[in-house]
Amino acid sequence: MTDIVLGILLTFHIGAVVGWLGSSIVYARVVGPALESMKPETRIDFLLDMLPRFSKFALISALTTIGAGIVLLGWVSGVDTSLLPTGIGFLLLLSGAVLAFVGLLIGMTLVTSSTNKLLKLLQRTKANAQEATSPEVNAMMLEAQRNIRTGANALSAILPVVMALMILSLYA
Ligand code: HEM
Repeated sequence: MTDIVLGILLTFHIGAVVGWLGSSIVYARVVGPALESMKPETRIDFLLDMLPRFSKFALISALTTIGAGIVLLGWVSGVDTSLLPTGIGFLLLLSGAVLAFVGLLIGMTLVTSSTNKLLKLLQRTKANAQEATSPEVNAMMLEAQRNIRTGANALSAILPVVMALMILSLYA
């Protein structure tokens, strides 16, 4: 029974990790660079359609990763401590968890808030065609886009380190 619960929790945890890390890398390496070479009219429609889905997917993956991680930690500490890494292993696991919270903070501040700001600007621009040419609005949109890409870049650097710490914790 313990093995089954552990297996289910690990599946949720690692499945969500794949979504969180994957979406960060895809944005940083594929979507972000592609946006820079798109025509403004195409970019507005594409972003309005893609951004809400993309950011919702990334946020749900991030929260599931952390949520399942915390439940896992609670489960192995409370039910079967023989599964819990000890000594250096436990320190590695905790360092990974702390770094994961830093990643969540970056995601919620830099990525999610810039996404919301960008979406508002895009909706305003679409509603008022004249503003599409306003250099101020364009500059604000580019800044928000750059912030999202910076956040995605930071996450694609931090999350593999967290993953390595989690895996190493079991073998240290
Ligand atoms: C608050 C955040 C997190 C907590 C509390 C947490 C906790 C845990 C726990 C308790 C385990 C199981 C260890 C065991 O079997 O005894 C685990 C496994 C794992 N975690 Fe996390 N985790 C968190 C975030 C993350 C993140 C962000 C990633 C990846 C980017 C990650 C990747 C992994 C991997 C790959 C394993 C499986 C290790 C293996 O079986 O070799 N975790 N995590």
